[in-house]
Amino acid sequence: MAWVRRPAPTNGEESENGVGQETRTNNIEIMSTEEILKQFPAEHNNMLGILHALQDNNPRNYLNSKDLKAAAAYLNTSLSHVYGVATYYSMFSVRPRGENIIRICNSPVCHVEGSVNIIDELKKELFIGLGETTEDGLFTIELTECLGQCHRAPVMMINENIYGNLSKEKILSILNKYKNNHSG
Ligand code: FES
Repeated sequence: MAWVRRPAPTNGEESENGVGQETRTNNIEIMSTEEILKQFPAEHNNMLGILHALQDNNPRNYLNSKDLKAAAAYLNTSLSHVYGVATYYSMFSVRPRGENIIRICNSPVCHVEGSVNIIDELKKELFIGLGETTEDGLFTIELTECLGQCHRAPVMMINENIYGNLSKEKILSILNKYKNNHSG
């Protein structure tokens, strides 16, 4: 199966790590689980790297049970151990998520600068709550810890792109660009 992750919008929306540039997975074909595992020595300290690679390879941005089982077998450990790691870290999900993961910083500086309003705006605009995925599979909203961009609070990240100094108007503009990018 070949699947191509859509690039982030490139029509000028600012992001701290490059203007609208996707930095993760443009135009990458889905690999088999075995192909991904083979890229890592079968050592326990590679578990996080393996789980990241498997999740990035999944168009729904999650770790499915087949991949978790394969990782456990490859690392010669139990499924419950791998599952425990996958559910401990917030960057992993064992449930299907959207094509674009929106992570809103809710650490103290962003909280003081109004991250709650940003969360409310996103919920209202996308008709979903935290941890949920839009019906069209385009967006998932999650919370995250400090993104290291406190001077631009409130801040959010979509996939690998960071957006700061957020306002209601800016949120709508950013979402529209991702929506247009999807339909175009
Ligand atoms: S507190 Fe939000 S980026 Fe630091």
